[in-house]
Amino acid sequence: MKIFLIGFMGSGKTHRGRQLSQKLNLPFFDLDEQIVNSEGKSINEIFAEEGEEIFRLKEKEVLNIITESHASFIMACGGGAPCYFNNIEYMNQSGVTVWLNTPLQVLFKRLQKEREHRPLLRDLSDAQLNNFIVRKFSDRKIYYEQAKVFIEDDEDTSLDQIIEKIFHA
Ligand code: S3P
Repeated sequence: MKIFLIGFMGSGKTHRGRQLSQKLNLPFFDLDEQIVNSEGKSINEIFAEEGEEIFRLKEKEVLNIITESHASFIMACGGGAPCYFNNIEYMNQSGVTVWLNTPLQVLFKRLQKEREHRPLLRDLSDAQLNNFIVRKFSDRKIYYEQAKVFIEDDEDTSLDQIIEKIFHA
């Protein structure tokens, strides 16, 4: 089973991915981490030195390599991954896509604190941050909504509830 966790930055894809991988005994891949390993550069460095378009190409390439070379996994995808090059269709054809839809208020709070390693956010002022999140989220929603499984992931959602939804997809 190939499970792709998608959703906005800060929605907890990596955290949930690690939990799911332990509980379901499946290998875990963090797409950003795999890009960093294959490039030998941080995500910030790739954006700064090569630009976002090149990052998106590398993101697609690494997504394809992992998907084609493993029969089963949990993958935490970067927030933009489903929104470029028909990646969401590709993920849907290859396995189960799961949208972790975390309330905007939770994203505001988390992303205030976790901006430094996110090139799209790090240069924004506190005042600009929430507007950016609202705008970007509304642009990306049409991609996230194509997921097969929707999880309203607030801080009370349990792992078992998520697993149940995935297996009833
Ligand atoms: C991005 C999200 C990041 C990372 C890159 C771009 C985005 O991953 O891929 O900074 O476009 O939303 P996370 O969603 O894990 O922060």
